[in-house]
Amino acid sequence: MAMNITFCCTNTKAEPWLEGLRAAFPQATAGVWKPGAPAADYAVVWAPPQQFLDEQPRLKALFNIGAGVDALLQLKLPPATRIVRLDDAGMSVQMAEYVCHAVIRHFREFDRYERDVAVGKWSFRKPHSRADFPIGVLGLGVLGERVARALRAFEFPVHGWSRSAKTIEGVICHSGPEQVNSFLGQCRVLVNLLPLTPETRDILNRETLSQLQPGGYLINVARGAHLVDDDLIALLDSGHLAGALLDVFRTEPLPAAHPFWQHPKIQVTPHTSARTLRSESIAQIAGKIAALGRGEPVAGIVDPVRGY
Ligand SMILES: NC(=O)c1ccc[n+]([C@@H]2O[C@H](COP(=O)([O-])OP(=O)(O)OC[C@H]3O[C@@H](n4cnc5c(N)ncnc54)[C@H](OP(=O)(O)O)[C@@H]3O)[C@@H](O)[C@H]2O)c1
Repeated sequence: MAMNITFCCTNTKAEPWLEGLRAAFPQATAGVWKPGAPAADYAVVWAPPQQFLDEQPRLKALFNIGAGVDALLQLKLPPATRIVRLDDAGMSVQMAEYVCHAVIRHFREFDRYERDVAVGKWSFRKPHSRADFPIGVLGLGVLGERVARALRAFEFPVHGWSRSAKTIEGVICHSGPEQVNSFLGQCRVLVNLLPLTPETRDILNRETLSQLQPGGYLINVARGAHLVDDDLIALLDSGHLAGALLDVFRTEPLPAAHPFWQHPKIQVTPHTSARTLRSESIAQIAGKIAALGRGEPVAGIVDPVRGY
């Protein structure tokens, strides 16, 4: 029987994905899922409804087209279905450029120069010392490790924190809940690249963010539910934190009345730090389907118990 690939991605144009999948597997059927569609072997998904999974009991693998699988793991999956994530697929370089840009903009005070220049003022500021700007990266996975290495290229002191112990050249690595406090206390800038799991939900709160060095700066590029919004605002208003750049929010789009929009120390971007690149992703999914078809192992299988 010919292989059947189904596509169920919210807010995503299906046709270019289907064209790419059909080109990779000319013998296969590839189409957009609708209720009552025949059972498929593989699915390409982003935020599918529960009904989709209820009606697709034969799926061998679900390919999630974003890096985060938190929304997918809220659903009830067919017992034999594995979730497979993309391996980077062009996201980590985007994340590295976003975070390096943010850190350098803050470190070099470009926002203040812009304000001065806007009123015709020719001014200089005393340069900060890199030694006074240790950066911490929460999560040293596909994205966090790339970001940590990129920051090292600019000679910032870089710390990282992960669940299991790591060795990354030039990066001071910490791991496990017992080392989180000493990690935070050694950082002034904090970059969040953790997956959203029951263990990491609300991890950016008054207690953890208070441990950053005075003048701390937060960059949240992982998930909005990592951050306790009111705690961030309180620490910015008290002066302990100097600012924050937020790309992800508990509710997206960020509601018009949310205080983050107007807060003078918060900058907001619309969940755009690392986008899924279609052609890289299709090539990877095709490679993984072919490998699974040959009975070979593939990288990126999500552990539903661990949550990422
Ligand atoms: N804003 C955007 O546009 C955007 C784009 C892509 C992704 N994201 C977000 O970025 C997240 C990270 O992506 P990724 O591909 O780098 O994930 P990943 O490869 O799965 O890496 C996750 C990292 O977090 C660590 N970790 C997980 N749970 C932990 C815990 N309880 N304590 C300490 N460390 C923990 C892991 O430790 P181990 O290494 O020990 O397992 C690993 O180093 C995604 O889940 C997604 O939410 C956002």
